[in-house]
Amino acid sequence: MRMVDLIRKKRQGGILSDEEIDFIVRGCTDGSVPDYQLSALMMAVCFQGMTKEETVRLTLAMAESGDTVDLSEIDGITVDKHSTGGVGDKTSLVIVPVAAACGVKIAKMSGRGLGHTGGTVDKMESIPGMQTALDKKAFFDVVNRVGCAVIGQSGNLCPADKKLYALRDVTATVDSIPLIASSIMSKKIAAGSDRILLDVKTGSGAFMKTQEKAEALAREMVEIGAGAGRKTVALITDMDRPLGHAIGNALEIIEVCETLNGRGPEDLTAECVELAANMIYLGEKAADMETARRMAKTAMTDGSAFEKLCEMVTAQGGDASYLRDTGKFTLGKVQRQVLSPESGYILRAHAEQIGSASVLLGAGRETKDSEIDFGAGIILHKNKGDLVKAGEPLATLYAESEGKCLQAEKALLAAYAFGEKAPQGHPLVLARIE
Ligand code: URA
Repeated sequence: MRMVDLIRKKRQGGILSDEEIDFIVRGCTDGSVPDYQLSALMMAVCFQGMTKEETVRLTLAMAESGDTVDLSEIDGITVDKHSTGGVGDKTSLVIVPVAAACGVKIAKMSGRGLGHTGGTVDKMESIPGMQTALDKKAFFDVVNRVGCAVIGQSGNLCPADKKLYALRDVTATVDSIPLIASSIMSKKIAAGSDRILLDVKTGSGAFMKTQEKAEALAREMVEIGAGAGRKTVALITDMDRPLGHAIGNALEIIEVCETLNGRGPEDLTAECVELAANMIYLGEKAADMETARRMAKTAMTDGSAFEKLCEMVTAQGGDASYLRDTGKFTLGKVQRQVLSPESGYILRAHAEQIGSASVLLGAGRETKDSEIDFGAGIILHKNKGDLVKAGEPLATLYAESEGKCLQAEKALLAAYAFGEKAPQGHPLVLARIE
């Protein structure tokens, strides 16, 4: 088999066989297919697409290209959750303990932030002592004892995806539904859970800017999950405005604690109830979604989910006293209020631009190797749809220096637009695909 023939076949709209896809993924993993041929093939896929069968095969081949996690040592149905990434999206750290408090087993591998979006592993590492690199035995032990554990992705999970994703990033070939779907699902399948909940974001802060594209991606991933024998449900959720009030690592952990004690922002709380209820339902701890929602709401108000988070943090070496007394977190020593330049309704709070402002403060990474300032970030006082008076605070910025705050203030103000009429609202959860 020659790679050049497979590139030509896909360029002409042909369908690659299982053997041909396995050949490509093997060559990608062992280095025998050079980067330029892989890149050419990815570009051909961007133009010609892939059939469902091709996408499933690509996903499974990438999932098997490195380590796979066998969760059979964990008792009960394991449920995983993946978000396509957003700004202020701390839902995993709320819903994992909520679902675990309701009896669901969760052995989750999470990512770090990149670009304008945050990552669960970075947020967790803002808790002093928190270990996110547990070995397999310790990881399983925490899940069996506590019911949930969240760690960073192991080094050799889906090496073929790692290579292809890095190439796609620099060859303008990220934006292809079969490539995104196979990339995400290969990692979820390799991570071993029986059931998968996907949170596919849409809007200005998301990969998929329109609901149609988000639904198409979600459908593809749900079908791949089914094809791989992993029951998968996807929610399409709004990421046109940041979620909750807090953006930045320690600030988001504080908001997680508030939400798990029944005092969270309305939008974040409502979205977490829906996501957690789906995990509870997938984990077969409730017979229907209404019961699952009731269970999630109870766990978020009776303290059981908050206690579960404290248990998980302690089991992973973290100092849970920071969760019980969030005043212990060190936040940016410079704090600056951003005042509204106008009166009126907020028509736009552009999520990607606000996420980029938080990166300027030090809360995110400019490059893969940048250091994060855990105490940096933004508290939004006003979000899309709110009424504001000129001179009222829109946000408070936290950083290590006045210079960073000034830079971020400019970026933040550019993210807002004002008008006389309230913008049309839409639900946080736009669709559910099963
Ligand atoms: N996230 C991934 O893991 N892969 C993609 O292709 C896009 C987003």
